[in-house]
Amino acid sequence: MMLGEEMFGKNKIRSQRICHRVALVIVFHLLILLLLDDVSCQLAWSPIQVDSESQVDLWTRKSVGCACSWKDNEHDHAKDSNGNKHEMLDKNLTLHNGHHKHGHQLNLNCACCVKGGCQCGEQAPNRCSQCGLENHCLNMCNVTLDSKNLQGSSGQTFGQIRSPTLQGPAVCYYALRPAPGQRVELQVYRLLQVGKFDGKKCEGGFLRFSGLDDAEYNGAELCGVNERYSPPAVLFSDDGITTLLFKITEKTVRSQFLAYFSFTSLSNPIVGFHPKGGKKIGSTDCDWSYNDHLCRGQAACAIASPGFPGIYGRNKICRYHITTSSVHTKVKITFNSLLLPQEHCSTHYIAVYEGLTPGSERLATICGQDKKEDLIFSGPNILVEFNSGYQIPPFDYNGFSATLTFIEGITTTLTPTMPFEIEPAHVHESPSEHATPPPKFTPCDQVISEQYGGRSGHFDSRTRSYANSCRLIFKGKTNEVVHISLFNYRLKSTSCRSVIEIIDPNARKKSLLKLCSPVTRKARNEMGVFIPPQTFISTGNQMIIVLRRAGPPQDLNDIEFVDGAFLFHNEEQSGTLQPYSLCDMHHYGLSSPEYGSVEGPGTEHLFWNVEGSLNCSHYFIPAANQSITLTIEMLDRLGTDNDCQTVCGDGGCQCLTGLNSIENIDHLMMMTDDNQPINCLCGNFHPDWLPVSLRSWSPIKLVYSIARYSWSTKGFTYRASYNFFTDAMCGKKTFTLQSSELHSRNFSQAFSLNSFYHQQCLWILDSNTERQLMIEVISNQSRSCTAWNISLHEFTPVEDENQHAGALIHQFCPRDKHKQFTFPWNLKTIVIKIQAMTRQAPLYTVRWKSTVARQKIQSLTPAPNVISSSLGCSILTSSSSYLQLMALLILSILLSIS
Ligand SMILES: *[C@@H]1O[C@H](CO)[C@@H](O)[C@H](O)[C@H]1NC(C)=O
Ligand SMILES: *[C@@H]1O[C@H](CO)[C@@H](O)[C@H](O)[C@H]1NC(C)=O
Ligand SMILES: *[C@@H]1O[C@H](CO)[C@@H](O)[C@H](O)[C@H]1NC(C)=O
Ligand SMILES: *[C@@H]1O[C@H](CO)[C@@H](O)[C@H](O)[C@H]1NC(C)=O
Ligand SMILES: *[C@@H]1O[C@H](CO)[C@@H](O)[C@H](O)[C@H]1NC(C)=O
Ligand SMILES: *[C@@H]1O[C@H](CO)[C@@H](O)[C@H](O)[C@H]1NC(C)=O
Repeated sequence: MMLGEEMFGKNKIRSQRICHRVALVIVFHLLILLLLDDVSCQLAWSPIQVDSESQVDLWTRKSVGCACSWKDNEHDHAKDSNGNKHEMLDKNLTLHNGHHKHGHQLNLNCACCVKGGCQCGEQAPNRCSQCGLENHCLNMCNVTLDSKNLQGSSGQTFGQIRSPTLQGPAVCYYALRPAPGQRVELQVYRLLQVGKFDGKKCEGGFLRFSGLDDAEYNGAELCGVNERYSPPAVLFSDDGITTLLFKITEKTVRSQFLAYFSFTSLSNPIVGFHPKGGKKIGSTDCDWSYNDHLCRGQAACAIASPGFPGIYGRNKICRYHITTSSVHTKVKITFNSLLLPQEHCSTHYIAVYEGLTPGSERLATICGQDKKEDLIFSGPNILVEFNSGYQIPPFDYNGFSATLTFIEGITTTLTPTMPFEIEPAHVHESPSEHATPPPKFTPCDQVISEQYGGRSGHFDSRTRSYANSCRLIFKGKTNEVVHISLFNYRLKSTSCRSVIEIIDPNARKKSLLKLCSPVTRKARNEMGVFIPPQTFISTGNQMIIVLRRAGPPQDLNDIEFVDGAFLFHNEEQSGTLQPYSLCDMHHYGLSSPEYGSVEGPGTEHLFWNVEGSLNCSHYFIPAANQSITLTIEMLDRLGTDNDCQTVCGDGGCQCLTGLNSIENIDHLMMMTDDNQPINCLCGNFHPDWLPVSLRSWSPIKLVYSIARYSWSTKGFTYRASYNFFTDAMCGKKTFTLQSSELHSRNFSQAFSLNSFYHQQCLWILDSNTERQLMIEVISNQSRSCTAWNISLHEFTPVEDENQHAGALIHQFCPRDKHKQFTFPWNLKTIVIKIQAMTRQAPLYTVRWKSTVARQKIQSLTPAPNVISSSLGCSILTSSSSYLQLMALLILSILLSIS
């Protein structure tokens, strides 16, 4: 039972893998750490060691030679535990000093304790334990170890756990209660009959920081039939009060473990590792976010595997999201420690991705134990992912720790080098310069044109030599407008002494923005999330950003600046950019080119600070006598989203989503102008089904939607062509002829599989004289009513033409083949509406005839309103039409008299 000696051996705790360049000189009562060089440990734990070879255990100096405190107490009447302790320590001192006050009377057969230790009492007279825990000498099970209490009773915040010898199945809990600023550390040296490792997990018994149910637990755990850990297997917990669970689930004879615990200060430079600068992402096991705000200046941020420098759990995936707020900022990852099992690179590894998710491009993979050189990446999003497989013996793999530094890639020179690298002539052309004499050029001024900077790019005043005044002059080609997005700026001077102004020279030098110092904009907020883009569009082909600064900065890091991205947008080719939108374009049938093509957005630098859902639309607006054909010709990588299926039928292509809503799924959609979907492509869409085309006689939108866009994980690409036709086939037309005919046109286009017709035609039959209208609709097509149909409505005299169709009077479906509708006498105006959404263009003839009053007189009997070849569509003669007939009758009598 007394396994102290046996289990601990001589308390020689050696560590083979100890820090190379660190010497630890450890004395029991005082821990002195001599740091000889940079700390670079593989494994690290709080040193807890006895100070001499002859010491029995952590708290027992010698097994005999001191007075038995409990016998002593009987004489001294000092019963409280504190008194007890002091009494005993006094005795020890006395003994050592050779002053034997009551020497001859004392029984010296009991243990001598070190400072902070208390004798176990009568049951184990030759042992001491930590003061405050002496009641648990023989049965240290289901105990609370409270940092503050132990500090009070024993002067130490570390100690020993020596479990009782249990007969399995059995269970013991140890509640470890750290003080604020402390983490819980456990160093396990010995396991005896504590389950066994089956290659994946522990079976039959284990030792772990519990918390979750057994089945879900994926933290670190230890087990073994007869294990000695040297160095110890170390577990850390940063979760406050932590329960250590010692559980034997199988039958055993004597199960036991030995460990040291320590409440370790987070500020301890070696073992007190704590992730630094980051924010834990709520509701995740071990995900963190880091950004350049939080890791500013010299204070590098630190990341590490869970529980570091303790061992990590099995099947962990921990993500460290790293974001930057400037295009010039780079992320440097420096590994300080790396200890992963060799030859398990497929399960135990660290992967670095460019983006938000592991679906993004993988930039690096780190595994094993060879610390990589510093890794440097550019943002704006880097994902570091730590992956662990099953725990691998000898259970000393403790993962990694690394520091993150954000490197500003920009250097401004305060001494101008090449003052005139711009061509002043370019700027003189600017019409805006006529009014005032052109200002002198400073070395900071810059002309940015497509020729020098490309169609899309970044600008940053800090890339220029310093001058108080700095102008960025964007010059596009004819037909181009300048689209600008500001990412970051900083003006420090007080009371508007520095200014940023955006000028639209073509709009009479209109100022689009004026910012007064002090003012700051950062592309990301404190949480590392991009704030919404701030964009500007010129009316002509020029735009000027003026930066006027009060004076040079004291420190180059404090320079006043502005940065962002630009795009030269050809409105004729790509549509009219809508103000305050990033990517919504309008194409007007009358003013845009007759045909052209549009492509998927997202690769232009303006999108650098877009994160989350991205919608970009092309709105095609045919004139009244026009139609538009829009054909999706190319579509790439819609996603492996199984949440959405594209199903194409006669009524168009639809996105069928499961539980997910369509906003959360990447898709490309054609919509009516009142946002009704016509064609939608998502998920499993097959490129063979292309082209998908639509001919429409009303405005349509092509909406590109990316649920989770980011600069490093852009959305799919597509190309679509459009063609406006002037066919005068639909549109809102008013016919005043009393009798006429309308024919559908037979489109003899080569049909592709997914080519659809979309019609929303509205015709008005108007008459200035009284008449009885008869409308005949004929079709040879045997189609369903949902494919296309013709409806006849009352006229609503409102301003909005689209609303003219009032209450429905009659409906024609293609299967009706032939129908004739007769209307009451007083209905002068009728609205005919044709609706179609189908693969085959509707084929029909609409014929109408009016009978004016004079001719109608002969007929004295009221005719049925509807003469029809089919049943069920007649309207009963209303009393009002009867009255009309009576009126006509009177009229005819009067006429015949005359
Ligand atoms: C410790 O406590 C648990 C439940 O609180 C109990 O099931 C277990 O038997 C106890 N262990 C011992 C050894 O008394
Ligand atoms: C994009 O469109 C969807 C649906 O049309 C809408 O729910 C979402 O809010 C839009 N997102 C943005 C950023 O406009
Ligand atoms: C189409 O309509 C526009 C104006 O609405 C008109 O200028 C044009 O001449 C029309 N074209 C045809 C072929 O009717
Ligand atoms: C429409 O045109 C096609 C091809 O020219 C022809 O085969 C078909 O018979 C036409 N249909 C009608 C109803 O005229
Ligand atoms: C008429 O046709 C349109 C377009 O195809 C369709 O949406 C609508 O449901 C149809 N109306 C009826 C009553 O079937
Ligand atoms: C329907 O078919 C008949 C004979 O096949 C033809 O004479 C008539 O013009 C067609 N009508 C329409 C509206 O296509």
